[in-house]
Amino acid sequence: MTAITEQPTPAASRHALPDPGELIPAISWPVVGIFSGALAVFAFSTWAAVTDRLPAPATILLTASAIFVLFTVLHDAAHYSVSTHRWVNVAFGRVAMLFVSPLISFKSFAFIHIEHHRNTNDDENDPDHFVSGAPWWQLPFRFPLMDLPYLAFLVRNVKRRPRAEVLETAFLMGATVTVVLTSAFTGHLWTLAVLYLIPARVAVFVLAWWFDWLPHHDLEDTQQENRYRATRNRVGSEWILTPLLLSQNYHLVHHLHPSIPFHRYVATWRRNEEAYLERDAAIGTAFGQQLDSDEYREWKRLNGKLARLLPVRMPKRSSARAARFHTIPVAGVDRLTDDSVLIHFDVPAHLRDQFSFEAGQHVTVRTDLGGEGVRRNYSLCSSATSETLAIAVKHIPGGAFSTFAMEQLRVGDTLELLTPTGSFGTPLDPLAARSYVAIVAGSGITPALSILQTTLAVETESRFTLVYGNRDADSTMFREELDDLEARYADRLRIIHVRSRDPRHPAHLRGRVDRPKLGHWLDGDLPVSSVDEWFLCGPVEMVTDLRALLLDRGAEPDHVHVELFHGYQRPTVADDFIPAEVAVTLDGRQHEVSLAAGDTVLESALKAGLEAPYACLGGACGTCKAKVLLGSVAMEQNFALPPAVVDAGYVLTCQSHPTTPSVAVDYDA
Ligand code: FES
Repeated sequence: MTAITEQPTPAASRHALPDPGELIPAISWPVVGIFSGALAVFAFSTWAAVTDRLPAPATILLTASAIFVLFTVLHDAAHYSVSTHRWVNVAFGRVAMLFVSPLISFKSFAFIHIEHHRNTNDDENDPDHFVSGAPWWQLPFRFPLMDLPYLAFLVRNVKRRPRAEVLETAFLMGATVTVVLTSAFTGHLWTLAVLYLIPARVAVFVLAWWFDWLPHHDLEDTQQENRYRATRNRVGSEWILTPLLLSQNYHLVHHLHPSIPFHRYVATWRRNEEAYLERDAAIGTAFGQQLDSDEYREWKRLNGKLARLLPVRMPKRSSARAARFHTIPVAGVDRLTDDSVLIHFDVPAHLRDQFSFEAGQHVTVRTDLGGEGVRRNYSLCSSATSETLAIAVKHIPGGAFSTFAMEQLRVGDTLELLTPTGSFGTPLDPLAARSYVAIVAGSGITPALSILQTTLAVETESRFTLVYGNRDADSTMFREELDDLEARYADRLRIIHVRSRDPRHPAHLRGRVDRPKLGHWLDGDLPVSSVDEWFLCGPVEMVTDLRALLLDRGAEPDHVHVELFHGYQRPTVADDFIPAEVAVTLDGRQHEVSLAAGDTVLESALKAGLEAPYACLGGACGTCKAKVLLGSVAMEQNFALPPAVVDAGYVLTCQSHPTTPSVAVDYDA
């Protein structure tokens, strides 16, 4: 027999449904179980309230919980998944409906709910769009009124419905109004409110939030357009979310296979996971991060066993294709020491992905001071797992930007920021148990602070040692923050303060962070073999000295990461550099540039008026990185790109001179 395999067309890949591998049971015992349990809770709370054994808040909470659970019975019954016998579904549905909302008959509810499935996210025809498409500030008012759009939808479509169903709904509405009015006239309205009216609104509030808003909000595709992206799953923390939400964290499975009983959603997803991922299923994490299929696979791999307990927020690189300047408001300017300030930025929502960053990356700040444009490069000091974008600026006597930041910069001012670049940090793995050491001096703490905070948050088994050199305690940037971190991560973070001008500091930690001190630690409790990654940041002499010692002692060059305050001075340009024609790809466009002998690739691009990215111009920051596509260049120096990146064809354009008459570089690669 010959098997014929058909390649799915794009339309088929978007709309064909995998076999869920689930059958409707003769009777769904989980539904019977929650139905019985919810009725028992309802009966108990009512009896306890009537006999004054429970205070009103406890009654409201218990009854609301029972109604919330009964909605799942109603919901499964509306999809005829409680039993293969139709009448069983109708019986469960009718009883549950009386508790959830006695204004509408079960059949009317089922009709309206199926319309939600047919028209999900269609603002004209989806009754649930009342909640899922509402602006956030209206949500607290719309959640508890979720049955109103159902009533309105029914009124609009009343002519389409069977007469018996309409009469049943009319009877239920009349009966409900009669009960409420009778209670009011007989002085029992408060009792009715505690026993049912308030708990019902609480339950509807939570149902609208968990069944409608969480799975559907901010998804633009309608069910008709793309059924895989009209509803989402929320992955992670299943151990608590699945029982709490009665499986609606996997609401996408329900929309794809509405006749599957609620307790089989997760199993169905796991059985067909790859098929759903191939169809670009909409997925969010328990904490709201949206994942495409590849990101979900990576998230799952990294979280592994932890995923069920503690989803980890992983840092993400900037989504900008090439580094670009944006005008960003200043949200805070806080004094760190007498000569340094911390600057927080308020990144607009539409630029957040472009300003997401990995620990160790930096931004370039550009502004106009007295008619002169200045640009400076600063490492980001906030954790890459936070939403915060912050830099620390240390005052340099005579320094234009640092003086401005110390004396004039205020909240609400704006600065031009280049999207984050650089690669000082290393990839993190939540399941790793590694040992990291950062050795820094002065403002070299800024990238190290981001790296250590991010590492300790993501890798919960890893350890970090920070060696931090300063003049004295008062000149120590982030002193309090580091004390707090040391207390928080007492078993995994060790901070060694070295002070050059503090006579009260322990003698063996007095002076500069230098070769003898590092040698002492390497001979003691920090042998090279015990450390996975080294980070060095500070003055050129300190960093080069310490790096040389680490390599002498056997550290692998790829595991010794270096960040310099400033690049080295450029050596005199040799005479044999040649002119060249350079093709520059920048922001998706190609430009032809003539390069004069002795100019760098970056200089030639800037002279031609291109907005090529740069910051330090000294080979230290990596902002000017580009890929060589044609010809070759020679770099004068490189303190930013690791060997593997250079081997892959990347260069620092601020250091690159063509060695062939034609060269092509791509800043977007
Ligand atoms: S601009 Fe900093 S390395 Fe080129």
